[in-house]
Amino acid sequence: MKITILRNNREVLDTKYEEIDTNDGIYDDVHSVRNALISLGYKVKELVVDEEIKILKKLKTDLVFNLCDDFLDPMKEAVVPLVLQQKNIKYTGSGSSSLLITANKYLAKLKFLQSNIPTPNFQLFINSNQRLRSDLKFPLIVKPNNEHGSIGITARAVVKNEEELYKRIRFIMKEKCNALVEEYIDGKEITVVLIGKKNPMVLPVSEIVFKGFENKPKIMSYEAKWVKDDFAYQQTFRKTPADITKAEEKEIIKQCKKAYKAIGCKGYGRVDLRLKNGIPYILEVNPNPDLSEDAALSNIARESGMTYNDLIKKIIDLAIKE
Ligand SMILES: Nc1ncnc2c1ncn2[C@@H]1O[C@H](COP(=O)(O)OP(=O)(O)OP(=O)(O)O)[C@@H](O)[C@H]1O
Ligand SMILES: [Mg+2]
Repeated sequence: MKITILRNNREVLDTKYEEIDTNDGIYDDVHSVRNALISLGYKVKELVVDEEIKILKKLKTDLVFNLCDDFLDPMKEAVVPLVLQQKNIKYTGSGSSSLLITANKYLAKLKFLQSNIPTPNFQLFINSNQRLRSDLKFPLIVKPNNEHGSIGITARAVVKNEEELYKRIRFIMKEKCNALVEEYIDGKEITVVLIGKKNPMVLPVSEIVFKGFENKPKIMSYEAKWVKDDFAYQQTFRKTPADITKAEEKEIIKQCKKAYKAIGCKGYGRVDLRLKNGIPYILEVNPNPDLSEDAALSNIARESGMTYNDLIKKIIDLAIKE
C-alpha cells in the first residue's frame, strides 16, 4: 500500500508577537511518521503542499497521511481534506469542518455552549474600544483568537485589571488578530487524547504539573511549550495518569467526548482543559494535533501501552475504515 505524507512548507512562518523563533524541530512530526510508516512496511512518498494547494489535483495514492499544519492562512488547513474528499482519496485525521471551526477559538466555544459543555466565560474583542462585559470576573486571560501552539500567550496574557487587559488586547491586535478574553481558571491543567470517531477510545487522563511557579501564572505559555532554556519549559512536567478522583475522571471523559463530537473530530484529537471544583472547563479541542514522537499525544499513548508504531497504525486503520 502506498501512503503519501502531505506536509506544507513551514519555514515561511514569521515570528509573531515577542516570541523567540524556534524553527528547529518544525518537521519532527514528518520525520517520526515517515520512519514509523517505513518500519510498518508501507511504501512512503512525501508531497509538499504550497499555499496554493494546486499540487493536490494531480495526486494519486492509496492513502494520505495528512500532516499539513501552520499554513500562513489557517483556513488553508481546512481546504486540504476537502480537496482530498472531492478526489475520493482517503486521509488520516479530521475533516474540513472540524479544522475550520477550531481555527477560530470563539466559534469552537460557541459550539461548546450549544452542547452544554463547560468552558470558561468569554468575550471576543474585535476592536480595542469594546467595553468589557460586567459578568466577566478578573483575573482574565487574553489570547489571539486564531492562533495555536500558545503563540501570543506569555505570563503577561493573564491580566488583573482593565489597564492590563486593554494593553494586552492592543498587543494582540497589532498582529491583526481578534482577541479572545476568557476568565482565568486557576485549576489543574489536563490533557485528554481521543482516538476514533463515533465512540472514540479515550487514553489515560494526563495532567501537567507546574513546579516552583509561586507567583507566576501556571499556564502552558509559549515559553513552556517551545523555549527549552526557559524556566517555564524546564519546570513543567507531564504526569499520567493525572492525580484526580474517580468522579473527576468520569466527568472529564464525559465532557471531552462531548467536545470531540461537537467539533466533529475523527481520527485522533487532543482536548486541553482546566479542572476546578470538579468541573472540567474545556479550553479547546485540537483536531490533528502534533504527532511527533515526543509530543503530548504520543507520550500519553505510550503511557497507555501503545508503541509509537501502534499509534500510527491505528490512525491509518481508522482512515481506511472511513
Ligand atoms: N481560561 C484559561 N484559564 C487558565 N489557563 C488558560 C486558559 N486559557 C488558556 N490557558 C492556558 O494557556 C494554554 C494555551 O491555551 P490554548 O490551549 O487555548 O492555546 P493554543 O495556543 O491553542 O494551544 P495549543 O494549540 O498549543 O494547544 C493552556 O494550555 C493553559 O495553560
Ligand atoms: Mg491548547
